[in-house]
Amino acid sequence: MNTKELTAINDKGHIVFEGCDVVELANKYGTPLYVVSESEIRKRCRRIQKYFTNKYTDTQALYASKAMSSLALYKIIEEEGMGIDVVSGGELYTAIHGGFPAGNIYFHGNNKTPDEIRLAIDHNIGCFVIDNEYEIDLLQTLAFEKGKKVKALLRITPGVAGHTHAYISTGQVDSKFGFSIQDDMALKGIKKALDCPNIHFAGVHCHIGSQIYRTEAYVEAGKVMTTLLQRIKQEFGIVVEELNMGGGFGVFDYEENKHVDIIDFIDAIMGTIEEQCSIKDINRPRIIIEPGRWIAAEAGITLYTVGAIKEIKGVRKYVSVDGGMTDNPRHALYQAVYRAFVANKAEEPKTEIVTIAGKCCESGDILIRNLKAPVMEAGDILAVYGTGAYNYSMASNYNRMTRPALIMVKDGKAKVTIRRESYEDLLRYELL
Ligand code: LLP
Repeated sequence: MNTKELTAINDKGHIVFEGCDVVELANKYGTPLYVVSESEIRKRCRRIQKYFTNKYTDTQALYASKAMSSLALYKIIEEEGMGIDVVSGGELYTAIHGGFPAGNIYFHGNNKTPDEIRLAIDHNIGCFVIDNEYEIDLLQTLAFEKGKKVKALLRITPGVAGHTHAYISTGQVDSKFGFSIQDDMALKGIKKALDCPNIHFAGVHCHIGSQIYRTEAYVEAGKVMTTLLQRIKQEFGIVVEELNMGGGFGVFDYEENKHVDIIDFIDAIMGTIEEQCSIKDINRPRIIIEPGRWIAAEAGITLYTVGAIKEIKGVRKYVSVDGGMTDNPRHALYQAVYRAFVANKAEEPKTEIVTIAGKCCESGDILIRNLKAPVMEAGDILAVYGTGAYNYSMASNYNRMTRPALIMVKDGKAKVTIRRESYEDLLRYELL
């Protein structure tokens, strides 16, 4: 299932997404507008349940909520029986405020602040993923102060490159994240955690990067991590309870790019770990995965209204829309490629090649280069696909742009789950 299959064209020649005419959505709710299919999010959670948590015993799936988080989304994830990973006090606060069961929350981050850690301890979250030595000391001190013993995994950098954009690759040795497998940093960290009376060392974690299409990268990481489990057993005589293999599973973004089903990633991870645990004579621990993008990206589209159009003869035709890098910075940051369709001209022939530009005062504010499209004019509605992950969550107020509303759609019905920011909102924190 991907957003292609969520889409139909009605008799007005308009794109219909999850049963809703998107031109009508744009008219009713304004643009730019994030539109997220609730059913698609749920379907994806269920696919993970079917092919991971139900297929393999002693496994757990977390949603990496940095991809997109909101009260409404945390509720859906909870209803689908998944846990979450959070990376900041803000994500943690939102989840807890929304009633998400704290015991199913994993807390990541390479520089959690004392206040964030206190908030997490106060709410008895399920697990901390400790990133570095400084954090071991900090967590021990704060847990001691609160008179609690907290469960923790150690994040390991397995030295495996995900072969993705450098900015979203995290598993290689030169990374700001985690205890390097080199120089026995990982084992030293584990020893230190084991010596902390207020920390319950429960296992290890790795995350090799994001938007990964190579299942081999997970096979390599699985081998490295099981070798570590073997060394932990030899050095400390313990069998770890959990091995968290992170997220990063690549999604369909544009036709020419390859596409790997999550089942292939899951089977590669589980096949490798089960085989390696048996070869290395260790009990297979609980295996955790934490996809973000795979759950959210293809469930979302963004609607824009076309405004100024400028053709530089023989060079390029720019079509400007009423949003841009403030609601989707991913092309500017990672040269991400998106698909888009003119929602009110869905059946018209694509006779032009245009560049979709945002409205920020910044030459790099481009959403899509070289899009094949029908002849566009001001007032057209452009639907950009695959924007459910890392769009709303990375949106900013640059140029004092207001963040768009986010609506969830299901069976032809729409519900605003995050309202559009107003100019008053922009002044909310200002004091004179
Ligand atoms: N677990 C950990 C520890 C992570 O750091 C991440 C993502 C995930 C899980 C989820 O990865 P996913 O399944 O969503 O690929 N802003 C970038 C992506 C940054 C990802 C950071 N960590 C982008 O827009 O592509």
